[in-house]
This record gives sequence, C-alpha cells and structure tokens, in this order.
Amino acid sequence: MDTCDPNTAYFAQEVLPIFVQSCTMSGCHNAPTDNNDEIDLTSFNAVITSDIISEDLWETINDTDPDKIMPPDSMNPLTPEQIATIGQWLQQGAQNNSCESGCDTSAVTYTNTIYPLIQQRCLNCHSGSNPQGGLNFGSWSVLNTVAMDGRLAGSIQHHANFAAMPPSGPMLSQCRIDQVLTWIQNGAPNN
Ligand code: HEC
Repeated sequence: MDTCDPNTAYFAQEVLPIFVQSCTMSGCHNAPTDNNDEIDLTSFNAVITSDIISEDLWETINDTDPDKIMPPDSMNPLTPEQIATIGQWLQQGAQNNSCESGCDTSAVTYTNTIYPLIQQRCLNCHSGSNPQGGLNFGSWSVLNTVAMDGRLAGSIQHHANFAAMPPSGPMLSQCRIDQVLTWIQNGAPNN
C-alpha cells in the first residue's frame, strides 16, 4: 500500500468515510433501489456501478436548489472540506486508492488525534440538532462521557451489547482503535 501523500485524496481513507457517514443510512444509498435511482454508495464497486462519477456526483453535492442538493436539506450538510476532498478525488481520476500512514499510539491527544478522527468518521451522524443516538460529539464532554462509561470502546470494537460503530462501511483500522483505547486509558482528557 502507498504511504499517505497529503496531495492525494484516497478513496478508502477519505471519500468512502464521507459516503458512509452522510449517504448510506437505512433507506438512503445503502442498496440500489427504485427510490434512490439505483445509487448505492457503500463500496467502490457500488459507486462505480451506480454511474454517478461523470458529473452527477459533483453536481448534486454542490446543487444550489435545496430540493435537489445531497445530502437532503433535513440532514447535516457536507462540510466545505468534505466537498473539496470529493472534488480532488474526482479530479485525480476517481480511483480505488488507499494509503498507509504509520501508527503512533504514544503521543495521542484529543486535539491532534481523536477529534480529527471523529470529524472524519463520526460527526456527520453525531452532530447537529438531532444527533444519532442522542450523542453530539461536537463537544469533548459528550465523547468523554461515552469514553468513560465504556460505550466508545465497546462500539468501535464491535463488542456484543454495544451498537457497532460506524454502523456501516469499514471498521476503524486497528491503529485508530488502538489510539482511541490509549486516549481512554489516559482518562479521555481534553488535551
Ligand atoms: C451513519 C451514522 C453513524 C455514524 C457514521 C456513526 N454513528 Fe454512532 N450511532 C449511530 C446511531 C444510529 C446510534 C444509535 C444506535 C442504537 O442505539 O442502536 C449510534 C450510537 C453510538 C454510540 C452508543 C452505542 C451504544 O451501544 O450505546 C456510540 C458510543 C457511538 N455511536 C459512537 C460512534 C463513533 C465513535 C463513530 C465514529 C467512529 C460513530 N458512532 C459513527 C449512527 C452513527
């Protein structure tokens, strides 16, 4: 696997997590159906089969008509950074690419390690006025609560008795899980 290059947008690490968070809830684009124009966004092959790469994808996430933009008006919108990432990936040929960034579990902090991960993989569901599961991870205190009561560790490791998180798409990598567990062991500080 390639080492992550900051000038490349990677499907596996960056684009798919956006689709999974914002588009693949049950009844949306989690399988091709008549109701969603046969558009399935759960994997690279599904995205390619859905035939949206040419222009539909870019147009729909940038649509100025509130009745047409995706995700729909009632959901948390994509951030400008997420739209830019998808744009960069399209420009670079919409490839099924993936990278490895090395794993540092020694210098884990909320600001530099944990919050960026939450932003990338969790926040589209766990933020806004109606956050999924009633958990808004836009603030440290809510994440600290689920870290200390065991739900964060249980859900990202897919332990029985916890809801598996993220609920669809790939699990967090072992490196990311180890970083979160290290942070929890340190008391889930706001550092
Ligand atoms: C696609 C939307 C979505 C994404 C992405 C998502 N969640 Fe959730 N999350 C939910 C829903 C829905 C629930 C409520 C599930 C339930 O109660 O069965 C939930 C519940 C939880 C819970 C409580 C689990 C429990 O067993 O009580 C935790 C902790 C959690 N999420 C953490 C995360 C983390 C950490 C991430 C990112 C790595 C994440 N979630 C990504 C939708 C999402």
